Amino acid sequence: MKQLGGCTFGIKSVKHMNVLLLGSGGRESALAWKMAQSPLLDQLFIAPGNPGMEAYGTCVGVDWKDRDALSHFCTAENIDLVVIGPEDPLVAGLADFFEENAALSHIHVIGPKAAAAQLEGSKDFSKQFMERNGIPTAAHKTFTADQLEEAKNYLTTIDAPYVLKADGLAAGKGVLILDNLADALREMDAMLGGKFGPASSKVVVEEFLDGIEFSVFVLTDGQDYMLMPEAKDYKRIGEGDTGLNTGGMGAVSPVPFVDAAVKKEVLLNIIEPTIKGLKFEKMEYVGFIFFGLILTKKGVKVIEYNCRMGDPETEVVIPRVDEDLLPLFVDAAKKKLLTRPMAQSAHAACTVMQVSGGYPEEYAKGFPIDGLDRDVESTVVFQAGTSVKEGDIVTSGGRVLCATGMAPNAAQALERAYQRLDQITFEGAYRRNDIGVDLGLRG
Ligand code: AMP
Ligand code: GLY
Repeated sequence: MKQLGGCTFGIKSVKHMNVLLLGSGGRESALAWKMAQSPLLDQLFIAPGNPGMEAYGTCVGVDWKDRDALSHFCTAENIDLVVIGPEDPLVAGLADFFEENAALSHIHVIGPKAAAAQLEGSKDFSKQFMERNGIPTAAHKTFTADQLEEAKNYLTTIDAPYVLKADGLAAGKGVLILDNLADALREMDAMLGGKFGPASSKVVVEEFLDGIEFSVFVLTDGQDYMLMPEAKDYKRIGEGDTGLNTGGMGAVSPVPFVDAAVKKEVLLNIIEPTIKGLKFEKMEYVGFIFFGLILTKKGVKVIEYNCRMGDPETEVVIPRVDEDLLPLFVDAAKKKLLTRPMAQSAHAACTVMQVSGGYPEEYAKGFPIDGLDRDVESTVVFQAGTSVKEGDIVTSGGRVLCATGMAPNAAQALERAYQRLDQITFEGAYRRNDIGVDLGLRG
């Protein structure tokens, strides 16, 4: 719907909104797809977006790092709401920039300010936050470069596997799990010596947690929160969860082992104390919190917080959200959110990523993608690493696209996602064919 000005919507008079979404991946594709369905949307701009997102809005070449250009764009296009997809702009203080700039401070921003984004931006900060607030997580110790000898001595006192984490953002590569002491000592040297640049100027050593991982998400205004559907991601490149870690190769929602008892435990022991902690510590937080969790024999523990939605988790969570996100975003930004679950579809959603051959290591780009126009019932393709070359949509990233299937049950949803991906080809395309197998969703 394209309409300017106010309209009567139910009993409230609600203004149509111009929205700017920042990001270009599958996560932002799913958010754009959802927001484009809102009757409250006037114009959706996506910076930088990708060719698939042109179906939902207008992709613009505004770089969030160029604050003048961003500011000028928001003013010129009368932007009402900015949704920040990835973590880098949040940790770099983009939400603060909007609030501190008089010409932009009226704009609603979804995404926490830098201080609260430290929950993702610094592992040490998030561990301390969890410890202060009694939130179950792996025991840890943090070391700085001038504590190298102490760090190595500490490693000799604990058992394998050794979990070493760069404190700062390291593009998903900063966590090492090592089976023997010699490797752990060598990696400690390398990390504190600058292997990940400033991100590993501190290294967190964590107790190894054994269990099965899943994620829950909330939208919060820092006081109240809306629980969203949970998801399980498949992080490794190889089938049977083998090989290198990736950004995520597929996801399913709901997660069969996340039953009512697990959900209750997560709410009481993890989500509630996190929100209370934010409030108590006066950390202003407007946006999504991604709780990376692990179900262990000793209950559910937090592996990490992210200050944004997950990718590819968003591609299954958002299709299951059964209400309009735009009014919720406005309520969150006005700190008027009500604590309640977000309305969710009883249908399942499953997504499978199609990646460039070689990913997550070196891979070639620029291969034409065939079959994007071939539809399969109740599926949607979210593009991620794509661009346009000579009029064709071509590969331009590691994770190229994913297909999400929706169905009354997860097995059918997966079947649909795979059927859709079967139609889409490009040179070197790779996918995992075992998404959901561990959950009994696929033979
Ligand atoms: P993170 O970036 O902290 O989420 O870590 C990336 C991945 O490493 C997680 O998704 C887990 O698979 C694994 N991991 C992180 N911390 C631990 C831990 N303490 N015990 C076992 N596995 C972990
Ligand atoms: N899929 C994991 C993440 O978004 O961090």
